[in-house]
Amino acid sequence: MKKDYLRVFDLSKDNFIFLINRAIELKSIKDYSKAPLIGRSIGMIFEKPSTRTRVSFEVAVYQLGGHPVYLSPRELQLSRGETIKDTAQVLSRYLDAIVIRTFSHSTIEEFARWSQVPVINALTNEHHPCQAMADMMTILEKKGKTEGIKIAYIGDGNNVANSLIEASALTRAKINIATPKGFEPLKDSVEKAKTLTEVTLLNDPYEAVIDADVIYTDVWLSMGEEGNNEKKEKFKNFQINSKLLKRAKPDAIVMHCLPAHRGEEITDEVLDGTQSVVLDQAENRLYTEKAILEFLLLL
Ligand code: CP
Ligand code: NVA
Repeated sequence: MKKDYLRVFDLSKDNFIFLINRAIELKSIKDYSKAPLIGRSIGMIFEKPSTRTRVSFEVAVYQLGGHPVYLSPRELQLSRGETIKDTAQVLSRYLDAIVIRTFSHSTIEEFARWSQVPVINALTNEHHPCQAMADMMTILEKKGKTEGIKIAYIGDGNNVANSLIEASALTRAKINIATPKGFEPLKDSVEKAKTLTEVTLLNDPYEAVIDADVIYTDVWLSMGEEGNNEKKEKFKNFQINSKLLKRAKPDAIVMHCLPAHRGEEITDEVLDGTQSVVLDQAENRLYTEKAILEFLLLL
């Protein structure tokens, strides 16, 4: 049966941990001559902009010997009303897997329902599971373990937060989420995660970061929410700055999935500071994308 990766909880704990360790292994392999995906074509439909996800997937497919096929939604018949069902079934006849970035999570679920080949979520409004895998790989590299690590996520309870909560659960990291009231993460992610680890929802960023090993933030306005100044206003006290950072452990690392809105959710000083690991985190996307492709296509 084909496997999909639409949200972190699609994977078992063992498979998730296997994949972050495999990604660490792949990071050290610079000889691409094995080309395990030779003859395979991977479609990539992006309905929102992307720098890291698109490029890391294209390069990952190429380095594994496969052929990435970038499909602009404007140029697909989807833009003229062809159904997801028909598109998914037809593309399955040509492609060996499909990477999709779209709006509603139900769109990718519908696509996966009709696709005969693995579907990978490159971000929906509700989940960003590929990001969360690179996040956990980075934490494992920097801290030597994930179990018992204390993560403080400060900001919007968005796609990145939901996937980080699910990834924390599978790796037994503890997670505090500080959001303004009304911007909490998905109940479904939180409730399921709580059966596996400690998840604490707070409204005070200063309380959330006490003794944290990892401070994580993301934009206050996600793609599609641009210009919502009313929402942005509510996050004023949720900025990651040096004052907030001082409350965490002295060796805490600072993470951000990027792109950042410098001066809003994070200051330049912290983003460019010695505790920031955001570039390693972005680089690790390449290795986790490879691990995900191998797992869904070859194992
Ligand atoms: N972090 C992330 O997914 O970045 P892109 O939007 O550039 O892909
Ligand atoms: N929450 C952000 C993440 C971007 C990688 C968004 O959805 O725009």
